[in-house]
Amino acid sequence: MIGASAPRPDALDKVTGAARYPADLFTPGMLHAKAIFAHRASARIVSIDAAAAQRMPGVGAVLGANDVPYNRFGLIEADQPLLCEDRVRFAGDRIALVVADTPEIAAAAASLVAIEYEDLPVVADALEALRPDAPRVHEDRSNVLLHQKVRKGDVAAAFRSADVVLDAEFSTGWQEHAYLQPDAGIAYWDDDGRLVLETAGQWLHEDRRQIAAMLRMPEERLVVRYAKIGGAFGGREDLSLPPLVALAAWRLKAPVAMRWSREESIVGHHKRHPFRITSRWAAMRDGTIVAAQTRLVADGGAYASTSAEVLKCATIFATGPYEIANVATDGIVCYTNNVPSGAFRGFGAPQAHFAAESMVTRLAHALGLDPAEVRRKNLYREGDIESTGRPLPAGVSVREVFARCLEESRSLFPVPLRNGSLSPLRRGIGIACGIKNVGYSFGFPEQATATVELDVGSVAIRSARVRIGTADVGQGAHLVLRQIAAEALDLDLERVYAITDASDEAPNAGSASASRMTLMGGRAVKDACDEARRRWLSGETPAATVQYRAPRTTALDIETGDGTPNYCYGYVAQAVEVEVDVRTGLVRVVRAISVHDVGRAINKQQVEGQIEGCIAQAVGFTLTENFICKEGKILTPYFSTYLLPTALDMPEIHPVIVENPDPNGPYGARGMAEMALVPFAAAVAAAVHDATGAWVSDLPMTPERVLGAIRTQQREGRPAATTQFERG
Ligand code: MOS
Repeated sequence: MIGASAPRPDALDKVTGAARYPADLFTPGMLHAKAIFAHRASARIVSIDAAAAQRMPGVGAVLGANDVPYNRFGLIEADQPLLCEDRVRFAGDRIALVVADTPEIAAAAASLVAIEYEDLPVVADALEALRPDAPRVHEDRSNVLLHQKVRKGDVAAAFRSADVVLDAEFSTGWQEHAYLQPDAGIAYWDDDGRLVLETAGQWLHEDRRQIAAMLRMPEERLVVRYAKIGGAFGGREDLSLPPLVALAAWRLKAPVAMRWSREESIVGHHKRHPFRITSRWAAMRDGTIVAAQTRLVADGGAYASTSAEVLKCATIFATGPYEIANVATDGIVCYTNNVPSGAFRGFGAPQAHFAAESMVTRLAHALGLDPAEVRRKNLYREGDIESTGRPLPAGVSVREVFARCLEESRSLFPVPLRNGSLSPLRRGIGIACGIKNVGYSFGFPEQATATVELDVGSVAIRSARVRIGTADVGQGAHLVLRQIAAEALDLDLERVYAITDASDEAPNAGSASASRMTLMGGRAVKDACDEARRRWLSGETPAATVQYRAPRTTALDIETGDGTPNYCYGYVAQAVEVEVDVRTGLVRVVRAISVHDVGRAINKQQVEGQIEGCIAQAVGFTLTENFICKEGKILTPYFSTYLLPTALDMPEIHPVIVENPDPNGPYGARGMAEMALVPFAAAVAAAVHDATGAWVSDLPMTPERVLGAIRTQQREGRPAATTQFERG
């Protein structure tokens, strides 16, 4: 079973449309809820008059902040109101919830709710939020949500003695998750007096915890069930619509349905953090990187979300997968009146790597060295010390991954690219490496629990029932967990039944996030299978519940960064070829090699699918997805203005799987689903430079920005750097 490309059992239904996503669960007779958004970034709510709306025939209720028993939620810190009390902090804040017989009546009634606002000053970006005279987004606290430092060695002394010191500034943008199924759900009371919420998310038991707290009900009285999930990518880590529909059903004691339009989803749920990054790096003539000083400032938006964790990840990855003797990193994330920023595939690592990997290539060019040679000189080795002062977890394979990437690129890009001087289309190639944690970091409790019940005959196990509460967000987790059970019990896949989608029927396996479910959930399933089989063989009841706990991590010291942040890392290296139209600045990624150490591929086709899907989002992050928020107003709430890459924008992808078994993962598997996003933007930037001589330092690399960089380069007359990797 391990390594087999077992076909996805849900694929056919998804392709034909038979699969039931949350909005397919609506039935006649349900009430419909509509949220009223503030659509302004910062204001005091002076008054809300819902009398006219309430009088409308077919309106069940207009709910406000007073209807929410405990009006706060949040994954790390409960600082976000479900419905605003007296203050609006971003355009997607919800003021009221209208519940009516039909969606049309709900919408009409919503337009009758008269809300009077007094607009307040807007904190429009993170740098503004840091100014001493900036208004406070939250009256009772500073705009600095977290300032995490990492200190190692003496950067100032290293800068004085280095052969080359380079400075640069980078910026990255917001990114919208753009999952296929916008936020939707139903909620109702069942015959046992439990409130049932059927929706899509990434962590059944955490959704239950937060919503039960908001409704002040015991967790056992709330059941969270997931329908099919049309992608998540971190975008369903924070609660968006689900607590609203739960509140309506709880309050009205009736079944309620709710769905957001694409525009509502884009305005109403969090985004990837935009970053401003200032870098000063230094190296010796032989290519040894001796110092890295980095300041990263992230826009956290109006509420805490997972900002603190994303920021800490970006801070530890500010030096990429390199051991550098002298490091000074300042990671800062601020509250602003923008859409909250939170989890998105890569969780801070793609932003940090864009700067770090660009600096490595620029240092190589400044020294006249091969960028591959400079990487080989500095890449992490087994036993190396992280910038946080402790040894890396075992299984450091980035050198092997990088070597494999170079080897593949030699056969894929066999001859130096020749750019005819008359053609406006210039080709170039670039490389970059990456590191990203698998699983929760910084001491956050990390566990997964699974129950396995065996159906046994007199001599053999006939079938197995595996209970594990885990979201299949489209990545194929459920199939992988079944494959692991089938292998452990030596059963046909068809004999393994998985119960995964209800908080009352399956134990807590943690979230489908941080590339963790194959390792954590898979290990819990494997250990539970082994224990159930052992019990059967010794004549006991052939069933077991096992909680797997990963090796311990620790919080970072806030001033020095000292600590053990992670128990497992994934490693990736990429080589890309781009074509740049120097008349328009349009960049096309032609080919991409993506090499991953996945420990052990449980399902090879799914691993390749994750690499390809991740690269699609990396193309958007790097080139096309330009999310614009001006003075707190979202100007790109449609896919006509926010441009996702399509099939025609995709490069030819060469996924390469390397397998160095992880010491903890089931059958050696380690996580990989986020990795392809980590080095991609830096590889493309290097390739664009190779093609044009111009460095682009801002993401996304829109044609305007690329053209601007080419013109600056031409005006300043700097020679196009010619040091391609492995070309001399
Ligand atoms: Mo994720 S960004 O770990 O859901």
